[in-house]
Amino acid sequence: MSALSHVLQGPALLPIIQAEVPSTAVAIAKAMQQGGIGSVEVVLRTPKALDCISAIRSALPELLVGAGTILSAADAQAAKDAGAQFLVSPASTPKLLQAMLDTGLALAPGVSTPSEIALALEMGVRELKFFPANLSGGSAMLKALSSIFQQVRFCPTGGISQQNLAEYLALPNVFVVGGSWISPASAIASGDWAQITALSHQACSLARQLKQAA
Ligand code: 3PG
Repeated sequence: MSALSHVLQGPALLPIIQAEVPSTAVAIAKAMQQGGIGSVEVVLRTPKALDCISAIRSALPELLVGAGTILSAADAQAAKDAGAQFLVSPASTPKLLQAMLDTGLALAPGVSTPSEIALALEMGVRELKFFPANLSGGSAMLKALSSIFQQVRFCPTGGISQQNLAEYLALPNVFVVGGSWISPASAIASGDWAQITALSHQACSLARQLKQAA
């Protein structure tokens, strides 16, 4: 298994794509790529999410495409079969972690407590999604965790936007920041791909600036 941080492409951002049909998923991904994004996470929250992953892989081969909202062993395998290049989950249990590891893909299982972090470490996973970031203590919690879990790095998601992105990107124990603010539901509904490109561009500028400084 490669570490997710070694696999990710582009600035330290992992925007979420949630789409009902593959053509919309491709349009969102293309808009993000045009704004400088190199890696995306397609969440398994719509009936056609797996088809969305496959469609983005074939339409935009230079983009790195992962699957999010992995909740079971079946999800992990189905995402891999659809072409997902990495896996993200909102939660961690021994069974779910093992199933994600068994795919051989890079991964970021979700945690929000010290005990969940300890569980992931016991299973050899050191790059973790911190979710829901804002409600779980935000950047202050990540700072507190950094002195205890010195070998762990996080992908915070949940409640992050252009307004508070900088406080997460500035933390040395954050390797990438994720979320849905780059593809607002209103922009998707109206087909405003230019807005998604503009939001991607803004976030990428900040990420390039702050991750180099961190
Ligand atoms: C996730 O799946 O990581 C979250 O839904 C992201 O949360 P957000 O929608 O608040 O960015």
